[in-house]
Amino acid sequence: MTRPNPPEDGYTLNLRGNCPLTSQPNLNLSKLNEKISEGRYRDVYRYNELVVKKTKPHIIKKLLFIEVRIPTSLYILVNYAIRDLNKYEYKQYESIISKIPSDLHKCFAKVHKPIINSKTCYSIHQLVIDHGGQISKTLSEYGKVNDEQFWSLIDELENRFLENRIYYFSIGPPNICVNKQADERLIPVLIDYKRCGIRTFWHQLPLFFPYFLRLKMRRRFQRLREHFNYC
Ligand SMILES: Nc1ncnc2c1ncn2[C@@H]1O[C@H](COP(=O)(O)OP(=O)(O)O)[C@@H](O)[C@H]1O
Ligand SMILES: [Mg+2]
Repeated sequence: MTRPNPPEDGYTLNLRGNCPLTSQPNLNLSKLNEKISEGRYRDVYRYNELVVKKTKPHIIKKLLFIEVRIPTSLYILVNYAIRDLNKYEYKQYESIISKIPSDLHKCFAKVHKPIINSKTCYSIHQLVIDHGGQISKTLSEYGKVNDEQFWSLIDELENRFLENRIYYFSIGPPNICVNKQADERLIPVLIDYKRCGIRTFWHQLPLFFPYFLRLKMRRRFQRLREHFNYC
């Protein structure tokens, strides 16, 4: 028996069964009108306590002085060897979280199973909000962080990643939220999991050697400390 294609507009998706989320069972993707931010590849919309990420149709690349529009799917296939960003990201998240001790799970914005309709794959994440109810700023928006707990969690993450051979290269200021807790202390929360594993750097041959992989990871963490640690 073939399933009828879901209507494009007003399509209500039921997340029950897809993820352990009970308080937010339905997502009506025609209601993605609260765009809160965007990255290079995706537009990000708020949906109550979630964010929905939708891959942009094109990315803009500057070649000499000319701006060229390249289809995102083609760009990520050639550069990262990934067919679908959002599906790949979900798998990476699942794999990371299974290797990380549970006391560090608070440093990872939860990713739910992506929702696919006939044309688009949507990535569904937990919205990172401060204790006061505002959306947490990313490290690039926040600037230097003067909080020892924040930096000791960054050290912990680096050590756990290296120890468990998790090559998380998305570690950069726009992909880390600075989350304010009830006691005013800050914790880092990772929000972007798509640049993981050597696969996404397939054209950098030295990275096939674990030594260089570790070096690259360490450098990325070190750069964060140099630019953003105010302690
Ligand atoms: N879970 C989240 N909670 C709050 N803000 C988010 C979340 N995920 C993404 N954002 C915002 O959206 C921006 C782009 O998201 P990101 O997933 O990094 O997109 P891209 O894949 O294009 O890099 C982030 O820099 C941040 O400002
Ligand atoms: Mg990003």
